[in-house]
Amino acid sequence: MTEIDPENTPDSGYRVTTSGDIEVSTYLEIAKGMGGEKPSDAGEAVSGAEREAIIVIDFGSQYNLLIARRIRELHVYCELVPHDTPWEKIVPLNPKGFILSGGPASVYDPNAPLAPSYIYEKYLPVLGICYGMQVISKQLGGTVEHGIKREYGHSVLHISDVDSPLFAELPETSPVWMSHADKIEVMPPGFRSLAYTENSPVAVMGNDSGILGLQFHPEVAHTPYGKTILKNFIFNICNCQGNWTMGNFIADSLNSIKEKVGNGKVINALSGGVDSSVVATLIHQAIGDQLSCIFVNNGLLRREEADRTLKVFQQNLGMKITYVDASDRFLNKLEGITDPETKRKTIGGEFISVFEEEAKKLGRVDFLAQGTLYPDVIESTSSVSTASAKIKTHHNVGGLPTSMTFKLLEPLRYLFKDEVRQVGLELGLPEEMVWRQPFPGPGLAIRIIGEVTREKLEVLRSADWIVMNEIKNAKLYRQLWQSFAILTDVRSVGVMGDYRTYGYLIAVRAVTSNDAMTADWARIPYDLLARIANRIVNEVPKVNRVVYDITSKPPSTIEWE
Ligand code: XMP
Repeated sequence: MTEIDPENTPDSGYRVTTSGDIEVSTYLEIAKGMGGEKPSDAGEAVSGAEREAIIVIDFGSQYNLLIARRIRELHVYCELVPHDTPWEKIVPLNPKGFILSGGPASVYDPNAPLAPSYIYEKYLPVLGICYGMQVISKQLGGTVEHGIKREYGHSVLHISDVDSPLFAELPETSPVWMSHADKIEVMPPGFRSLAYTENSPVAVMGNDSGILGLQFHPEVAHTPYGKTILKNFIFNICNCQGNWTMGNFIADSLNSIKEKVGNGKVINALSGGVDSSVVATLIHQAIGDQLSCIFVNNGLLRREEADRTLKVFQQNLGMKITYVDASDRFLNKLEGITDPETKRKTIGGEFISVFEEEAKKLGRVDFLAQGTLYPDVIESTSSVSTASAKIKTHHNVGGLPTSMTFKLLEPLRYLFKDEVRQVGLELGLPEEMVWRQPFPGPGLAIRIIGEVTREKLEVLRSADWIVMNEIKNAKLYRQLWQSFAILTDVRSVGVMGDYRTYGYLIAVRAVTSNDAMTADWARIPYDLLARIANRIVNEVPKVNRVVYDITSKPPSTIEWE
């Protein structure tokens, strides 16, 4: 916790003590400043008049990315920052308000993360959610009751202050989603309860200076009026304009890419996936032929994939593309390998060698473009969230040797997947490409159990083609996170006509998911499954049996290897 420099601080009335608590002296006086005029230190440092942002102080709740998504859906830019982020890093974003997130800690834990002092000093509105509310209470002089029993699930919210701008368009009672053990015992001075539930007399609290707290989670779908509450906070209390649109994002990005790259050269590893396609298209619009794309065919792609990707980027969009058919190299390297991790590492290593060789042929290159997205950034920067264990080695170009000294160009690093798709559409990419389901870097190799051979690849490509076709015909493709076939290493006995067969077993996997961290098997109609199975055994030689994978993630993963 930083000490406040009294010389440099507007007189907010709050003082940070060495224990990290905030002492309250004249909190009522600062009330007048909140949500209205801002002190000059914030205003002067802001560049770009159009900018506005809601800043979420990340205390590690599993729902945090949802808060940012909900707010961006309302056309206000929102960013998550670690709870110890210095004010200097926040200023350029032009913050209009803060949200203190939920989190797993208890405010009485010895190392409990607390809010930085500027949260209470900058005359900006603050909304604490669950743990965030308890932090406010602790730091501003209230007390939090350490609950032994967890309140988890639905509750009914009763609004007592119907005039609060936070509750505009809300009915007097509505369901809310609770997930907490601790709760407010005594509110800090100047605060009053604005709403209650059966178990929490202070389910919502606020003071006259725009500091508010919610005991429940407005960001989850189980709180049906949660988005309205967030909307009220950002528009009625923070006075946001709502100018976060993908059109504005594209305009800003084109400028900043031009500025950053100057007359330098950029390379991009094109895979045909949504992220790398949108990155390539955006950069190409900004700097034209200063961008070179390298498209490596590793021999593990699906049917027609290489041709279709080349057609879109080379013919339709006129991009400079180096196409390398390295199928033989990859398949030779994979000979005899059956262990999933060794497969991945072999493919990753080979990809890097091919990419490096091709990049060298291009002469001097200054930047490497990557399709890094916001959830990846958060996963690697959050100071509170426990980094999730690496379950599989996911290969990407990030593992390039240090002898290749590129600077990174990551124009999508603040976007969510749905925003990336919208950018792709606005840039004129075909729908088919923008809505493509994710496809892993190691390709079909991790969907063939056991050794990868040319023969097995052909079997799998044919089965996969049928799955994709049928899912698309049934208009389910976009609803599913992924749908594909796996070639197992099981052979089983069947009968076709008068003959006994001994053929491959194909598994079909279709899952729903929001972020691939968890997934559920898709309840696709039996008739559709029957058609898929029937077509596969009839149209794909050497396959005589089809099964459907009905496990969720966890405990399974989406891919089989
Ligand atoms: P799992 O199988 O771990 O997969 O549940 C989660 C998501 O990641 C994709 N995936 C990969 N993507 N390189 C990639 O680019 C990889 O090595 C890789 N392995 C898995 C998978 O398709 C799913 O969407």
